[in-house]
Amino acid sequence: FDAVDIIATKRDRGTLSAAQIAWTIDAYTRGIIADEQMAALNMAILLNGMDRAEISQWTTAMITSGERMDFSTLRTPAGAPMATSDKHSTGGVGDKITLPLAPLVAVFGVAVPQLSGRGLGHTGGTLDKLESIPGWRADLSNEAMMRQLSEVGAVICAAGAGLAPADKKLYALRDVTGTVESIALIASSIMSKKIAEGTGALVLDVKVGSGAFMKSVDMARELAQTMVDLGKDAGVNTVALLTDMSTPLGLTAGNAIEVQESVEVLAGGGPSDVVELTVKLAQEMLVCAGVHDADPAAALKDGRAMDVWRRMIRAQGGDPEATLPVARESETIYAAKDGVLVELDALSVGIAAWRLGAGRARKEDVVQAGAGVRMHAKPGAVVRAGDPLMTLLTDTPEQFERAREALEGAVRIAPQGSAQGKKLIIDRI
Ligand code: URA
Repeated sequence: FDAVDIIATKRDRGTLSAAQIAWTIDAYTRGIIADEQMAALNMAILLNGMDRAEISQWTTAMITSGERMDFSTLRTPAGAPMATSDKHSTGGVGDKITLPLAPLVAVFGVAVPQLSGRGLGHTGGTLDKLESIPGWRADLSNEAMMRQLSEVGAVICAAGAGLAPADKKLYALRDVTGTVESIALIASSIMSKKIAEGTGALVLDVKVGSGAFMKSVDMARELAQTMVDLGKDAGVNTVALLTDMSTPLGLTAGNAIEVQESVEVLAGGGPSDVVELTVKLAQEMLVCAGVHDADPAAALKDGRAMDVWRRMIRAQGGDPEATLPVARESETIYAAKDGVLVELDALSVGIAAWRLGAGRARKEDVVQAGAGVRMHAKPGAVVRAGDPLMTLLTDTPEQFERAREALEGAVRIAPQGSAQGKKLIIDRI
C-alpha cells in the first residue's frame, strides 16, 4: 500500500478497505507512515467521515496494535466469578463522577476496572484529581490490578503503555493538528481502549454543551450511537447516556477540591447533580452487568460505598483520612445584581481552573493539587448583589487576572422567574 494513495482516497471521499486500514494503523505505529501523512489523513477523515465498516475496522486495527486484557478469570477471594463493568465519560468540567462511582458499583459485587487518563486542556483528568491524595499511586502492574479487583472490587489506575499504543500516538498527533473533533476518530479512540481493556459491560457518559467536545445534542447522539454499535459488535454490553455539560458538575472544578466533594457524596451528602448522575450511572453499570435489584442511593447513604472507597485508596498507597492540599491564595467573584443565576458556562470555568493551575497545557506540565474554582451558586439559584459566586484558588496568584478574563461573560443573572437550569440527563442510547 501507499500512504499518499490512501490519503487521496479519503480526500476524494472514497472508502478505505479493511486491508488498507489495518496497514495504515500498523505502519503509523511502526513509524513507516510519517506524522505529516497521518495528520493529512486525519484531516480528510475529519472533513469527509468514515462509514460504519471503516470505523469498525479502524477500531479493530487500534486494538490489534497492543495487548488485550482479560478479566474472564476474575474471582472473589472465595472463588466466585465476578462480572466487570466500566464507565467512560467523554470529558467535562467538574466531572469527578468516577471517584464515587467506582466504589459504589463494587458494593454490589461487580468489579470496576477503571483505566483513566490525565487531563489535557480545560477538561480535568481523574488521575490528576486522585493524585492530590497523599501517597496515592496511579501506576499498577496488571497483576496488582487483578488482585485489587478481586479483593476490593474497584481500581482506578493509569492505562498501561501496552493498551492500544496506536491510539496514544494518534491522539497526541490529533491534539496538535486540530483533528480531535471527528466523530469517527473519537469513537474509535475511546472504544479501542475500552474493548482492549476487556470490560464485560460499559456505560458511556457522552457530554453535550459548551464544556464538551460535542456542542449539539445531535452530534452527541451520533457519537453515542457509533460507540454503542462498536461496543456491541465487540461483545461488550454497552449503553450510553447523553448528559448536560453546559454548566460544571457539582460545585468544584479542580483536583483536591473535587476529591473533597466526591468524599461528601460518599458520605451521603454532596451536590444534588453529582449524586443524581452517580446513582444513575451506577444503576446502568449494574444492569449491564446483570444486577437488577441494587439500590445505589442507599449504599451512598449508609456508608457501604465509603468503606469500599477507603479500601480502594489504601490499596494504592493513599491515606483516605489525610488532609488534602489547599491552595495558598484565593480570590472571590461576587454577583453584580439581584436575580436568578441562569447561566454559569462550563467551558469558561474549565479554562479558568486550568489557568489557575489545575490543568496542563502540555503533557509534561505538573498540575497544582489545590488549584481550581469553587462555585457558590449553580444555575437556578436566586442570588443578591454582593453574594459570592465563585472562589478562585491557586498557588500562583499572578494567574488570577487571566482566570478572571476566562470568566468574563460566563455568568448570566436574569430577573426572578426566568427559565431555570437544563435537564442533567438528556437521553439514553
Ligand atoms: N477521548 C479519547 O480518548 N479520545 C478522543 O479522541 C477524544 C476523547
